[in-house]
Amino acid sequence: MKTKNNPLQLLGGLTPEAFLAEYWQKKPLLIKNAIPNFTGLLTPDELAGLACEDEVQSRIVKYKKGKWLADFGPFDEDDFANLTEKPTPENNWTLLVQSVNHHLPAGAALLQQFDFIPHARLDDLMVSYAPNGGGVGPHFDSYDVFLLQGQGKRIWRISEQTDLSLVEGAPLRILKNFDTAQEWLVEAGDLLYLPPHLAHWGIAVTADGIDCMTYSIGFRAPKNQELATEFLGFMQDQLNQDKLVLDGIYDDADLKLQDHAAEIGKEMIVKVSENLSKIKWSDQVIADFLGTYLSEPKVDVMFEPNKKMSMRNFSEKLAKVGISLDLKSQMLFSADNFYLNGEASKWTGEPASILTKLADNRHLEASNIQDAPLLQQLYDWYIAGYLSFDYL
Ligand code: SIN
Ligand code: CO
Repeated sequence: MKTKNNPLQLLGGLTPEAFLAEYWQKKPLLIKNAIPNFTGLLTPDELAGLACEDEVQSRIVKYKKGKWLADFGPFDEDDFANLTEKPTPENNWTLLVQSVNHHLPAGAALLQQFDFIPHARLDDLMVSYAPNGGGVGPHFDSYDVFLLQGQGKRIWRISEQTDLSLVEGAPLRILKNFDTAQEWLVEAGDLLYLPPHLAHWGIAVTADGIDCMTYSIGFRAPKNQELATEFLGFMQDQLNQDKLVLDGIYDDADLKLQDHAAEIGKEMIVKVSENLSKIKWSDQVIADFLGTYLSEPKVDVMFEPNKKMSMRNFSEKLAKVGISLDLKSQMLFSADNFYLNGEASKWTGEPASILTKLADNRHLEASNIQDAPLLQQLYDWYIAGYLSFDYL
């Protein structure tokens, strides 16, 4: 197993443990030259190409005569042709593309560099492109983010202001007031970590004719209200599948005469409350809930089933070259329970340690798998499009 707590250049020489203790969810950190020689993973044209695809979520944010506007993709060539080529502070724009890691193997590999944060907290890789002066304005995000500079440069302004009031009526969240506390000019390979709710403002800088592209490694943290809604739905399914059983039937041998026939008596309320308080859950149920919920693909994610391959060819190829999670797959585990794209399965012994490697590394080295049920499971996942031989 690799040592997870070595000092990392990515963290400016900090160990992941020190980063977590001092900065994570607490304060910003600028790391110069976090990824040496990093200039980006795709060109502006390739990013625009992604933004034209149906299954890719993208936005163009424009600032026009003091007003913020947002258009949503998929875009076409005309949309880009109509954008101002020589923007001014009063008229500029930026293109933002979500989940680039679902489409670009190098994007998924970049996210893996941040695996000192649990996969369950990871959201996606967003890439932005902006000509000089472009950006999404002063704002705050609800989640942690690492902002990695690709090509070009960017001015980052941050503020620890508590006034987080927003411009009314804008199609995106723009802070009404922004008091710059610190400002940096970042260049390719520099990384800025921001904790949630920290006000920031990135302004693209074109340097030597090269426009700005920024890579946002974004995290997610479900709202407690959302967790409750989803958990109650999960418990409903547990009831429907008889995995949760409340025995008995309402009884009232001690029924007293009521003044009002229509009144729901106090005794009934107390008794039903007692019966319902028998709904209990173990940590295992919570793990199953989190595993299925957090590995569930987002609504717009579709898996392309792989062409039929014989089991024999599959196992031979696996033994020769290994296999990877598909770029869109999300795999988590808790003890012996594995969750892949919202589906749970239980494994112990050697198969469990093989699946742990697949989940952690998103990749399995060439493996001559002897365990027939595991081989069958990997084959089924491959056919469903959850695994791939393409990203080795
Ligand atoms: C950007 O890349 O333009 C926006 C990143 C952010 O401010 O969250
Ligand atoms: Co932001």
